[in-house]
Amino acid sequence: MKRHGTGGGTWSTRAKFLTAFLTRPGTVGAITPSSRFLAKEMIRGVDLGPGARIAEYGPGTGAFTRAILDSIDPNATFFAVERDERLAAELRARYPGLHLHVASVEAIESLCKEEGVEQLDTIISGLPWASFPSALQRRILDATVRVLKPGGRLITFGYYVGLLTPAGRRFAALLPEYFSRVERAGPVWRNAPPAFVLRCTR
Ligand SMILES: C[S@@+](CC[C@H](N)C(=O)[O-])C[C@H]1O[C@@H](n2cnc3c(N)ncnc32)[C@H](O)[C@@H]1O
Repeated sequence: MKRHGTGGGTWSTRAKFLTAFLTRPGTVGAITPSSRFLAKEMIRGVDLGPGARIAEYGPGTGAFTRAILDSIDPNATFFAVERDERLAAELRARYPGLHLHVASVEAIESLCKEEGVEQLDTIISGLPWASFPSALQRRILDATVRVLKPGGRLITFGYYVGLLTPAGRRFAALLPEYFSRVERAGPVWRNAPPAFVLRCTR
């Protein structure tokens, strides 16, 4: 895959992502895909071995999906949940074997049942939390902690600029209500814009 600068993916991937952002800014929340450097930081230390149960929220054009698929054991459970039908169609074409649900992650409990897992060890999230209204942030976090095993982790990322917005600050303030430990890693400079990673343990 041809890559350019710190934005993720080819020009074609970036163009599709930008189109998705311009038509649905509140759900896409970024103008360019995440870089492979951010993807590497997102999956650092994640158990991708046999028996591991992992879900990805909001894969978009698949920057994190690709990093997960490159390293995951065939005997692990992995599925992704993307609400945007056009981005989902792209993902299907790129990763034909991927278990992909076109749905909102608010339905994660029933999606876990469909996948035959009761609980998850790890959720890798590409969701644009800082673009979400408060009620949606809470609905997703409520469902997330119901499916994560005790000690399981939600791994998500944010942009430093997002911390300046009321919704970004509200999300950061909500996390300690839901998780016993929240660790911040970064900055990941080689991403546009620079990002940080949050590892939140249930
Ligand atoms: C910032 S983008 C994805 C970033 C991804 N890591 C990448 O580089 O392509 C956020 C994605 O979350 C998806 N999304 C937003 N709200 C969602 C929801 N409630 N359920 C599932 N996907 C959602 C959007 O459609 C979009 O594809």
